[in-house]
Amino acid sequence: MVRVDEIDNLILEQISSRYISGQNLATELNVSRAAIWKRIQKLKELGYEIESSKSGYKLKKKTNLLLPIEIFQCLRTSYIGRNYIFFKEIDSTNDYAKRCKELEDGTVVLAETQTSGKGRKGRQWLSMKGKGIYFSIVLQPKIPINDILKFSLIFPLAVKDAVEKNIDQEVCIKWPNDLYLNGNKFAGILMESEIEANEISRIIVGIGINVNNDFSDFNDLKNIATSLKMETGKEIDRKKLLCDLLEEIEIKYGEYFIKKSEIIEKVNQSLLWRNQKVKLIDGNHEIEGELIKIDETGGLVLKTQNGFQTIYSGDLTLRKI
Ligand code: BTN
Repeated sequence: MVRVDEIDNLILEQISSRYISGQNLATELNVSRAAIWKRIQKLKELGYEIESSKSGYKLKKKTNLLLPIEIFQCLRTSYIGRNYIFFKEIDSTNDYAKRCKELEDGTVVLAETQTSGKGRKGRQWLSMKGKGIYFSIVLQPKIPINDILKFSLIFPLAVKDAVEKNIDQEVCIKWPNDLYLNGNKFAGILMESEIEANEISRIIVGIGINVNNDFSDFNDLKNIATSLKMETGKEIDRKKLLCDLLEEIEIKYGEYFIKKSEIIEKVNQSLLWRNQKVKLIDGNHEIEGELIKIDETGGLVLKTQNGFQTIYSGDLTLRKI
């Protein structure tokens, strides 16, 4: 876990617009010169470009890392992400959150890269260093177990709205919670629920977004995966996108309890392959039909040869035929 504290923050403030000597920094912040030197080395390792010259230290360029101090400068939420745990590298942010039972409601665990990033159905989630946004949110919503599918819809909708604030293209949602641009997936969500005594005790919502990946980053996923940069031709500001997304999640999380049907309606408006013939695969079981809509339970309604059928399993594969 990388910790950047108030003193590091003050050093960055002091050196952002002028040269200041190590001695003056030490006096100003009431720490030793050696401590200042150590902290400057740490900040350099975290990607801050700091010039050290006869006139003192001066910040030349901020880090690209999604460090807490960087995120707090643009975060407008009141509780989502206010407890923000940052790793340069971890196995999986979802697994970390699951291991730490004491994390408070709204905690965000974010990593610049994951060595065992997890996708749905036991798949791997490619988490390239510095290219994407990979994080998990810990939530303790007071909802019945049967509402999990419906509740899960707020997250793809939040990703859609946040991404659309940052790029000029329309994002589609593939049921239950994948995100698509121009027919290719750029983000996915892995929701893991913990149930105790027949009630939801915690939900870990893991979100992975391919932001600044290039075509060459994807290897064998080239034909199905994309990134925001690949679709727009532009480098995207990950810090702004993350802050926008956490804000959208907080807004939609609040809205869910008062206007569930509006959330479902909005997802329906952006539903991928709506009114088209699709195939749903669930293990060995396949269903073909026309994709009609998501209903008030969060299930997917298909018009099949046997009439209308609602699908609830979150473990389906949706294929255009
Ligand atoms: C999917 O589309 O299959 C879901 C992908 C979810 C990936 C995210 S990245 C952050 C969090 N940690 C993980 O190990 N997985 C999720």
